[in-house]
Amino acid sequence: MRFGKGALPGKSEFCTYHNDSHYCQNLGAVMAGAIELETRSDSAEETRMLGERLGRLLQPGDVVALEGDLGAGKTCFTQGVARGLGVAGRVTSPTFVLIREYQGRLPLYHFDAYRLAGPEDLLALGSDDYFEGCGVSVVEWAGRVAAALPRDRLEIELLRVPGEEEARLIRFRATGPRAKGIVEELKRDLRPGD
Ligand SMILES: Nc1ncnc2c1ncn2[C@@H]1O[C@H](COP(=O)(O)OP(=O)(O)OP(=O)(O)O)[C@@H](O)[C@H]1O
Ligand SMILES: [Mg+2]
Repeated sequence: MRFGKGALPGKSEFCTYHNDSHYCQNLGAVMAGAIELETRSDSAEETRMLGERLGRLLQPGDVVALEGDLGAGKTCFTQGVARGLGVAGRVTSPTFVLIREYQGRLPLYHFDAYRLAGPEDLLALGSDDYFEGCGVSVVEWAGRVAAALPRDRLEIELLRVPGEEEARLIRFRATGPRAKGIVEELKRDLRPGD
């Protein structure tokens, strides 16, 4: 299914919806679910806009697990989520501080697991309290700490497109009913004419 013109400004064809028969081939356990939605972004701002659309839909206790190589756009996407949550300040990478908290319509807890050795390190940060709290959690490098993440989470993978510096494929996978509901809402939101 194609989402046509108007899904995002300047885009003629923005999203492709894959049914459950599509799986990603080179990922570990954290990203083993079926692809619910695949989109393409052609700029950092477009990635932020997609994150913003998602941020508007998120509710307390939602957990977003981000995957993708260095510089794939995980922080950029999170900046958009923050915008969608009404966070006013600038969102920067929490690579060295491991977690940053922002206040918006809901609190945003932004984790970066790049420097963590494994799931125990995330738990030691008190991650369970954040995940079960009244805010929204976004975890960069989620694959490193998969075992410490809640069972029902929205997994989003950003992939570079060879030969296209500013292009990214962005894939959404839901590991539980709440995450699936979020993706369904996002798909409706991205569909033009609604
Ligand atoms: N379509 C795009 N989406 C996102 N970022 C893009 C895009 N095109 C170019 N960029 C650039 O790629 C970089 C992405 O950086 P960002 O910090 O968001 O990546 P990251 O995945 O968080 O990296 P890290 O693993 O170091 O945390 C930025 O410099 C951004 O301007
Ligand atoms: Mg980052």
